[in-house]
Amino acid sequence: MRTTMTSHSSGGLQTRPPLEKHIVLLPGDGIGPEIMRVAVHVLRDCAAEFGHHFDFAEFPFGGCALEATGEPLPAATLAACRAADAILLGAVGGPKWDPQPIGKRPESGLLALRQQLGLYINLRPIDLRAPLRGLSPLRADRAADVHIDFVRELAGDIYFGEHRVEVDPSGERATDLAVYTTGEVERVARYAFARAEARKGRLASVDKANVLSTSQVWRKTVARMAADHPAVEVEHLYVDNAAMQLVLAPAQFDVILTSNMFGDILSDLGAALAGSIGLIPSMSCGPGPSLYEPIHGSAPALAGKDVANPVGMILSASMMLRESFGLAREAEWIESAVDRLFASGVRTPDTVEPGTAKVGCIEFGDRLHAEMAGAPGRQERTGA
Ligand code: IPM
Ligand code: MG
Repeated sequence: MRTTMTSHSSGGLQTRPPLEKHIVLLPGDGIGPEIMRVAVHVLRDCAAEFGHHFDFAEFPFGGCALEATGEPLPAATLAACRAADAILLGAVGGPKWDPQPIGKRPESGLLALRQQLGLYINLRPIDLRAPLRGLSPLRADRAADVHIDFVRELAGDIYFGEHRVEVDPSGERATDLAVYTTGEVERVARYAFARAEARKGRLASVDKANVLSTSQVWRKTVARMAADHPAVEVEHLYVDNAAMQLVLAPAQFDVILTSNMFGDILSDLGAALAGSIGLIPSMSCGPGPSLYEPIHGSAPALAGKDVANPVGMILSASMMLRESFGLAREAEWIESAVDRLFASGVRTPDTVEPGTAKVGCIEFGDRLHAEMAGAPGRQERTGA
């Protein structure tokens, strides 16, 4: 155990009160539980290092909850989430539940949780980490500069409109309703403008305003708000063009604001640019506690084989420290150790390159534990 007197590179000795935080864990399905174990170890290490107290409470969610209770989002899980300081989620879903109709799948639990907690902002930072440049499918000159914050609207759009299947002479007739109100666009756009103001001041709003009326409301609203944010340079792109621009010239993007459906698709594309979808964390927020999850999903084919990449989950935990608890130095302590580990050639199966060493999910966690313990400047900081 260590003191809370800390001296970091940015300044001299400072006394900070230790934090007590209650974190709800939803490991979920597939690789969710494996990567969650690693992230919780990292958070325990962090608490010990910086003198904080985090307590963890785990709840069933997704397919495993469906099996146990008949509901993907049991009432007790939702109640615990509402009372948490923050929520960490692994992933949900799997082939076992694929035949289930919409509404009876693990994913419906995820959508219900987002809706119940009012999580309308989804931040997905796409950063091509320096040691992993060689993993990007981009040409080397284009791969250098990929640092994009995706702000995805998360509580509306075709995800939450009515889904209906009717009988049709040809078989079936299915409809999915996309809905956006001015207010729904404004509240997420407000966050994206603030994010752009704190970064390079560029905001690209992505829609399909040449075809969809939801997109016309979207574009009109963002354009009107741009007048109140003179420090932000705003451009509007159609989603098809945005997909092409992301691959051809990703350095032009700073913050990308887009709808729920387009954000789902483009953020996977972005993750590929960053080398592996296993690396990307996310934050979902609204009026209550925020939820942090990697964007990759449950990867059932990898489950139980100790080959999953825990980094998207670990970076989700460090994002929680920074964004929900204001612990920027603690987040940096974790993230810099991840980068040093990658730079030293320790790699998960999805990030392995010639000349690097492949390790499993558990060993990556063990190596990270050692790397954090040996962080530069740690001895002087801890007096160890
Ligand atoms: C994501 C996922 C989810 C989504 C699925 C699992 C419902 O793909 O978080 O990106 O579509 O939002
Ligand atoms: Mg997705």
